[in-house]
Parts: sequence; C-alpha cells; structure tokens
Amino acid sequence: MSDNGDSKGMRRGLTNYGDAGFSLYLRKAFIKGAGYTDEALQRPVIGIVNTGSAYNPCHGNAPQLIEAVKRGVLMAGALPMDFPTISIHESFSQPTSLYLRNLMSMDTEEMIRAQPMDAVVLIGGCDKTVPAQLMGAASANVPAIQLVTGSMLTGSYKSERVGACTDCRRYWGKFRADEISEEEVAQVNDQLVASVGTCSVMGTASTMACLTEALGMMVPGGASAPAVTADRIRIAERTGSLAVQLARSRLTPDKILTARAFENALRVLMAIGGSTNGLIHLTAIAGRLGFTIDLKQVDQMGRDTPVLVDLKPSGHHYMEDFHRAGGMPVLLRELRPLLHLDVLTATGRTLGEELDAAPAPFLQDVIRKAAAPIYPQGGIAVLQGNLAPGGAIIKQSAADPVLMEHEGRAVVFESAQDMAERIDDPDLDVEASDILVLKRIGPKGAPGMPEAGYMPIPRKLARAGVKDMVRISDGRMSGTAAGTIVLHVTPESAIGGPLAYVRSGDRIRLSVARRELSLLVDDQELARRAAQAPMAAPTADRGYLRLFLQSVLQADQGVDFDFLRSTDSKGPVPGGNLGL
Ligand code: FES
Repeated sequence: MSDNGDSKGMRRGLTNYGDAGFSLYLRKAFIKGAGYTDEALQRPVIGIVNTGSAYNPCHGNAPQLIEAVKRGVLMAGALPMDFPTISIHESFSQPTSLYLRNLMSMDTEEMIRAQPMDAVVLIGGCDKTVPAQLMGAASANVPAIQLVTGSMLTGSYKSERVGACTDCRRYWGKFRADEISEEEVAQVNDQLVASVGTCSVMGTASTMACLTEALGMMVPGGASAPAVTADRIRIAERTGSLAVQLARSRLTPDKILTARAFENALRVLMAIGGSTNGLIHLTAIAGRLGFTIDLKQVDQMGRDTPVLVDLKPSGHHYMEDFHRAGGMPVLLRELRPLLHLDVLTATGRTLGEELDAAPAPFLQDVIRKAAAPIYPQGGIAVLQGNLAPGGAIIKQSAADPVLMEHEGRAVVFESAQDMAERIDDPDLDVEASDILVLKRIGPKGAPGMPEAGYMPIPRKLARAGVKDMVRISDGRMSGTAAGTIVLHVTPESAIGGPLAYVRSGDRIRLSVARRELSLLVDDQELARRAAQAPMAAPTADRGYLRLFLQSVLQADQGVDFDFLRSTDSKGPVPGGNLGL
C-alpha cells in the first residue's frame, strides 16, 4: 500500500464511515472548527512532523522551524498541517533510545498513512529520530523530505572549545583518572551543550544528517547549518516549498531511495568518519525498501574511500566548522568520482545536476582533498571470525593504530550490571594488554543494544595513565566516542552467539588489517560450554517489550522488527561493481 490513489488534499485517506461523501463532509466540518476556509481546504496538504518535546533539547528549535516550514508551504500555495509524533532524546530514553526507534518509526508511518497529506516534512535531529522518520516515511511511501534541527553551538571552558559529546566523555575520563576535580567536572558540565540542537561533533545525529543529504532526501546543503542560525531557518523555509513541489510531482521515497542512493550514502558514511550507528540505521532504512546491506562489500567500499572530514571524534573540528567550510556539497564534490551522479534527489534533479549548481569551492581546512585525507581508508572496518560469524565492526579512524593488531587475554563481564559492579574493583584481575569483553548488550540482550560498548577503562588502569584498551561487545557505541572498540558482534550473546561462551582467560586475536576477530578456543570446547550452560534468550509477558523481544532482528539487519521490513526483496547493496 503506497498512497491513497488519485485523491488529493483533504480528500485523501477518508475515515471509513461507509459513505465517502459523508466522511469528507464531516472532516471539513471538524477542521472548520479550527477556523479554516473552504479556499484553504482545497489546497494540497503538507504534513509537518513535530517532534518538539521538553524532554528533547536537541529539538528545542522545533517551533521556529515549523513556523518557517509553514511559511515555505504557504508561499508555494499549499496548506501546512503540523502534527506530533513520538520524540526520542538520547539521555532521556530508558533503557536506551534504539529500543524506541522502531516504535517511533511505526508512529511516523501510521500517522502519515492515517492523516490526509500530499507530502510530509519530517523534522527530526537527535540520533534515532531521523532514521525512525526515514524508515516510517519509506514504508508509507508518501512524498517526504527531511529537515534536521541542526547542530548545537560549541561552548568554551577555560578558553578551550568544548562540545557534546566527545568532550563530555573526555572530561569524564579525566575525572575518573583523578586528573580533574569534582568541582571542575561540574563546571564544564555547564559548557558542553551551549545551545539547543544536536551534538556538535560527527556523532550519530550529524552522521544521519549527512547521510540523509547524500540519499537525496533533503534540501541540498541542508545537513550542516547549526540549530540557532538564520541558515537553518532559511533551510526550513526552502524545505516547506520543496515539499509542495514533491506533492505536485508525486516523487515518492521509493524513487529516491534506490540501491545507488544507498551506495552513495555508504560512501559518505566512510568519508565523514561517521558513527557506527549510521550503518545500523542505513541497513534498517534500506530494509524498508527491500534491500539488504552486504557487510563484506561495505568493507571493500571502505578500503577505497578516504576519510575527508576533519571532525571529532576522528579529527579536530565541530559541525559549525563543517558548515562554514561549505558542508555536504563540498564533500560530495570531492567524492564525485566515487558517487552515482545520476540518482534522483528530492529537488527532482539528479545529484550530479545539484553538484554542478552548488557554490564554487574555496580555501578551508575542514573538508580535505581526496589526495590529502585525514585517514586513508573509510572510517568503519568490518571484522569476521569465529567470535562474530555474522560480522562485527570497528571504527578504525577513531581507534589506536597499535591496538588494532593485538592478541590478549579476555576479561569478561557477563552483563552491563556485572561490569558496573566490578570494573572499578581494585582487585579486578586486569592489565592494559587485556581485552575487555562485555556480553548481553545486543538487540535482545539489554534490550535495545545500548551504547555501552564504550566500556570505561578500569579505574586502576585509568589512574595509571591507560587511555585505550581493546574492548569487544555485541552492543553499540555513541558516534561521539573513540577508542579501539569492536561493536555489533553478531549473533549477539543473548541468543547464544559465540560471544556468550567466552570466559575470562581465553585468548582473543584482533587484526584490523586482516579484518579478523578470533576467539582462540577450539570449536569442540565452545560446543561443550554451550551444552553445559546454554544461554536463555530473554522474554517478556506483555507490552512493547514483548513485541520487541519477539520481533527484533540482529545488527546486520538494522535491528528493525521482522514484520516492518519490506517483503519485496530487491537484493544486496552495495552491488558487485560498486559503481566504479
Ligand atoms: Fe541528541 Fe546527541 S543527544 S544529538
């Protein structure tokens, strides 16, 4: 089911009273209660998804953006109708935001379907909101365009520029290592988030903004403007006008979100040193269109895609610098030889045409030339081996080069709770050369695959100056974090993946050069351990948790629900020749 046939505006998707004429009559009577005229109600309708919430400061500019989108819609001759959906903020989502992403995508999809709209503007920003909206819009397949809230400004602490949340983690690490006092860590807390808007580094929110522009689902240049700038408001106005154009041309998401568009987005994910979460979300969005993501091909793509954007945590700058440097059009131009330029974008023009029309480049030091990358290969490498038969990933651009080739003794934590209780124990048997292993933080395990893969360095080692260790889990890591951290081990431990049967003292070998993640324990011994103490998958009696545990898929399928993926299989992405 895509849209509502040929009906338009207020005539779309009538409530079923068994008499279409009466349904429309009743609908108009009710909406006139809000003061609308027949002239207004004859126009095309543009829905605007309002995810403003007091719990979501990343969307704190939603009221101004909605006002500007409405202006753009009215200027282009249509009727704007804003409506609320679930909003998700990273720090206000228990147990974790990914647990709620699919619920938000269902809310978005069903409200787009249920209410009359000829196109929809999706206003999101914080990490899980943009993927949830794109997943929902892709499934509803009504013309749609994404508007992100934009990044927060950076703050300053003792003349040092700071921003969420790479610097949140850095200062917390200093505090744990006794390098700064409790008073100082409290003082910097006031400066880490200097305005409303999304995290100011290349975390998941910034990553998803860039990927959305690369997919063609956004106004060109719309990814990078900070939340509190005039540029952001202008982008909102343009988004409103473009939504009307989309409604008239009936350019639905399935015509934009093609295999080649996803290949472009994967290239960009590598080139921006993007969040590892970006891979999960792209996989989930692609799954709504019937595509699977081929991790081996993604790794191959990464080998010939340099990291060009010098933003934290892989580099030095912040999103507002990326915007001043020209943002995504500058990056896409630099990547031009690696991209499919014939893909259609929301403007109705191809990516190539948009890049031809983009402003001329100028001297800047945030977006590198392909010949002078900040990292020679893509940010994310895909690992395989007996510890992760379904794959695992590492953000190599943010890892310690020395530790990326490492064999060590496993120090195992059975759950996040177990880690919290023991990691700072002075008697914990752990050395800097050990490999920390954390179980049961996968999609079903925690549940919701929390960003606990960024395990803290045990306090006694942190105090001795240890800054990084190899860490392995079936969980995720915030896009704002850095370290030699292996994530998304698939299948997860909670459903009996090999990770479930690792014991402290086992040897593990990580070789990013060979893309290897091996548990140096033979198969018979692993089978014996599994038979001795089989892992019981978590269950729940009722509610959303029950639905989640029954339906959630593994990381290699985007942690989507099985019943939400498209049943129309269109094959793997990237394809065989990677478009080169
Ligand atoms: Fe919302 Fe980082 S917490 S983008």
